[in-house]
Amino acid sequence: MRDLVAETQLDVRQLVAPLFVREGIDQAQPVASLPGVMQHTRASLREEVRQLADLGVRAVILFGVPEVKDDLGSGAFDPQGIVQVALRELSADVGDRMVLMADLCVDEYTSHGHCGVLDGPAGHPHTSVDNDATLEIYGRIAVAQADAGAQVVAPSGMMDGQVGAIRAALDSAGHSSTAILAYSAKYASGLYGPFRDAVDCAIVGGGDRKSYQQDWRNAREAMVEVHADISQGADMVMVKPALSYLDIIAAVKAAVDVPVAAYHVSGEYAMIKAAAANGWIDHDAVAGEQLTAIRRAGADVILTYLARWYAQAAAGKAR
Ligand code: PBG
Repeated sequence: MRDLVAETQLDVRQLVAPLFVREGIDQAQPVASLPGVMQHTRASLREEVRQLADLGVRAVILFGVPEVKDDLGSGAFDPQGIVQVALRELSADVGDRMVLMADLCVDEYTSHGHCGVLDGPAGHPHTSVDNDATLEIYGRIAVAQADAGAQVVAPSGMMDGQVGAIRAALDSAGHSSTAILAYSAKYASGLYGPFRDAVDCAIVGGGDRKSYQQDWRNAREAMVEVHADISQGADMVMVKPALSYLDIIAAVKAAVDVPVAAYHVSGEYAMIKAAAANGWIDHDAVAGEQLTAIRRAGADVILTYLARWYAQAAAGKAR
């Protein structure tokens, strides 16, 4: 009877699996702070995505780890960059049954580790990210990703005007049907630590992203960002991280008519894995509770490293 009247459903079709692909390695590498998550080779990525598709997962989002990083992050828009190469392969393998998304940012590709181009020397106290110069780079990345087969591009850099710049660049390159999933309300969270291990990213000089990501003391600011992104052409908006921001998810869901996504981020996943490994919590119970809570708050779509676990559990095959 409880199932009959439950208000919230969690389904594998609402999950997006984040995946990392690293250039120039011939064996997949585990990420120590994200148990069960790998830096994939091109080949192991293809195999993983095929298996996810067979398990019923309908969408993946790709992050690239380039061999060489530079000031501009040019590996992010190079047609031969790792994500573009991987997208072409995945399109051929599973393009008919999997939504291929690409994270659109440069922090994995820049030598200084920021999400945009800098206006001065890296590590200098007066250097900051040059918002408008970065928009031009984001447009080039969007086109390279769409050319390579991305059906959805997901700008995560929190530059002002990024959605509009990307929409214009995609349209003028003939990619008017490529969708934009905007990381709209992305907080300057301490929960991204394991992700930065996964993409080998460190900010030179020990800086942070507080000049472009949001202050966690603020909720109304999130609505400004969400409305700006929708007015610039976002097809879906995202709140990130998820669990500490359920109030934001609920407020966004009530205020907009586009699909709302939430990112259950690396630190959220790592906390479950670490506590469960110590025998302090029950992994499956807590993982299911957290994903359901994110849905209950209003997320239509959840990006989560638990996608594979959930798909297997749903198929009755978990551990
Ligand atoms: C930026 C980006 C980040 C994440 C997704 N896209 C890192 C950051 O802003 O520092 C974090 C995801 C996670 O922690 O799982 N390209």
